[in-house]
Amino acid sequence: MTEAELYLQYKGVFVPKLVHSPESLQFFEEFTFRHDDIIAVTYPKSGTTWMQEILPLIVSEGDITPVLTLTNWDRMPWLEEHRAKELNLEQRPPPRLFVSHCHYSMMPESFFKVKPKVIYVMRNPKDVFTSSYPYYGMAMYMVNPGTKDEFLETFLDGKVIFGSWFDHVKGWLGAKDQDCIMYISYEEMILDLKASISKISLFIGKTLSQEVIEKIADHCMFKNMKQNKMSNYSLVPSEYMDQKKSEFLRKGIAGDWKNNLTEAQAARFDSVYKEKMKDVNFKFMWDEN
Ligand code: A3P
Repeated sequence: MTEAELYLQYKGVFVPKLVHSPESLQFFEEFTFRHDDIIAVTYPKSGTTWMQEILPLIVSEGDITPVLTLTNWDRMPWLEEHRAKELNLEQRPPPRLFVSHCHYSMMPESFFKVKPKVIYVMRNPKDVFTSSYPYYGMAMYMVNPGTKDEFLETFLDGKVIFGSWFDHVKGWLGAKDQDCIMYISYEEMILDLKASISKISLFIGKTLSQEVIEKIADHCMFKNMKQNKMSNYSLVPSEYMDQKKSEFLRKGIAGDWKNNLTEAQAARFDSVYKEKMKDVNFKFMWDEN
């Protein structure tokens, strides 16, 4: 199926019609934030589901009941998707936890006034690409990616859901009011999950004991999270996501692009990356390797 059939255009980017509609996007635009809301913002395939596990566990101080009884999309919903409207978010006790894939420039008016806390998760774009390719092949609400070479150009051009990775990251890195934003990378979380959990807890104003941090880190390890049916997307019918083709929680490592991109594909990626990121003054962990 084509882009026109599967996607809506919203503020210059594609969003999948299956979970977005003009009404859900209007709800997002009119959403009233509270100062104590916490939003994990990610470009797709950068660690959204991981944050939907970590943050509720930090808030519950390690009580695993919420992550074993509520699906990731209910416990920490996407504000721009249909479901948000139906979840009675007004009634949720603080801190309310949300996720969003939106660019900084797409955030609603109330966001800029209220300045809720944001945790912006970034991932090596070559790994985002590597994770996206099988995902576009297994999810029926996405345009078939074609060959890897074809999808590479589609991805680098930003003709994918939520647009260009480069614009997303540059927009959020250039955000005003950076006191309200914590930047973290997928690679940092892979390297030291306990330290990352501790950093996130401090940012949201929670002091956790070492014992609780260890418990959360253990639960959020890839192999453990993969067993949680509330987080591994096994509850999504196979006509929407065919996890026999590729699992949603696929590999959970940093640097998998090395196993998936040819030298020519990596070189093509690097040349576009170099050009698009030339004015960005931020030390990305993946640039060091
Ligand atoms: P891979 O496809 O490389 O395995 P998102 O949730 O933003 O869509 O991102 C999905 C990616 O995050 C997938 O990457 C998935 O496996 C990875 N992921 C999810 N939970 C994880 C965890 N606990 N540890 C490491 N990676 C995780």
